Amino acid sequence: MSRKPFLAGNWKMYKISSEAESFAKEFKSLVSDVKDRDILICASFTLLPVLAKEFNGTNIMLGAQNMYFEKEGAFTGEVSPLQLIDAGAKYVILGHSERRHIFGETDELINKKVKAALQYNLLPILCVGELLEEREAGKTEAVVKTQVVEGFKGLSKDEALKVTIAYEPVWAIGTGKTATPEDADSVHSFIRKVLSEIYDKDTSEKIRIQYGGSVKPENIDSLMAKPNIDGALVGGASLKADSFTRIVKFN
Ligand code: 13P
Repeated sequence: MSRKPFLAGNWKMYKISSEAESFAKEFKSLVSDVKDRDILICASFTLLPVLAKEFNGTNIMLGAQNMYFEKEGAFTGEVSPLQLIDAGAKYVILGHSERRHIFGETDELINKKVKAALQYNLLPILCVGELLEEREAGKTEAVVKTQVVEGFKGLSKDEALKVTIAYEPVWAIGTGKTATPEDADSVHSFIRKVLSEIYDKDTSEKIRIQYGGSVKPENIDSLMAKPNIDGALVGGASLKADSFTRIVKFN
């Protein structure tokens, strides 16, 4: 089963419009020759219009980092799936560990967001991953399994196929500590087993699983060499056009 490599940048709460625009101008020319790989930038809501304009007609897709699950309504400060589509987003990151741990998002809320995204044809990237103390207590698989099972709850097979999973061990995010390619691959393979139990083997083989957590130009090649690692969700190293280009152009 060959899954198309999927390299995504998560800019988190970085950049203002002028910075996003200059990144986009440089990056789109650097990666214009890339074929057979999906490239995505997930940026703050305020940056989506300028990026949509710059990426229009290129091989770079645009995504958001969060949303609310209602189409519209009295939800001060929230952004809806419809508004994201309108702003040019194709993807949305849901359940990022920073949303789970800083903003208290639960599996139940994240599942509602996954369903709402799919209803409006936004493609979710569902993030899962264990805390350091959970890993040290030998609970990695149990934690990740719950997050996957709850995140996919109620999704048909066709809907499930539209979801990308990002495995991001929390202790590897922004710390410079990466899971070894072997450790990451083994969790990815476990996630695929969970998906095959929920759906079937064929479906589990088609769903892409990205790795995230201190992905850099220096480690992307060895991560991507692993059979169950289908791409990366990159924080810090996606903020500069040259380093993210090297990641997109992994060997
Ligand atoms: P870093 O690549 O900065 O560790 O961030 C990873 C991440 O959280 C991507 O979503």
